[in-house]
Amino acid sequence: MSPTRIPVRLRVNGRPAEGLAEPRTSLVDFLRDELDLTGTHVGCEHGVCGLCTVRVDGVAVRGCLMLAVQADGAEILTVEGLASPDGKLHPLQEAFAEEHGLQCGFCTPGFLMALHELIDDEPNPSEEQIRDVLGGQLCRCTGYAGILRAVQSAFAKLGASPSTESGA
Ligand code: FES
Ligand code: FES
Repeated sequence: MSPTRIPVRLRVNGRPAEGLAEPRTSLVDFLRDELDLTGTHVGCEHGVCGLCTVRVDGVAVRGCLMLAVQADGAEILTVEGLASPDGKLHPLQEAFAEEHGLQCGFCTPGFLMALHELIDDEPNPSEEQIRDVLGGQLCRCTGYAGILRAVQSAFAKLGASPSTESGA
């Protein structure tokens, strides 16, 4: 007998959304499989790589470590919600594209969402704060130099001047 599926109602990227989840279903699997929001990726499924990062009520969360049922009633922001409704990319997205902050791009949604929280919390972050965020996200392609440039560029676009030095 298959496990009971429980209704989960939340808001995702500013819109109401609902679906059914088994009690053991992770938030990231719910977003991808039930709501078809496949921009959030899955890697380790153990809270290590950061690929699955989304914002839950403003907090950057590993979507593989949170159950979908725990997110019932929450406000979720995923990478699909970063661009404006008219399609204009968020400055972070622009900067990653311009500064070669990605190669295969598999890690990129997680980086974007983790950095998006930093932008909200610390409009003028120290290098240590930036490195702290980047240290929680794994990228196996870029060597991080392009990502650091992208962060500098994104904060410059937003009117801040982080003191990040180039080089990982
Ligand atoms: S898939 Fe969630 S941290 Fe790796
Ligand atoms: S760009 Fe490929 S894993 Fe980061």
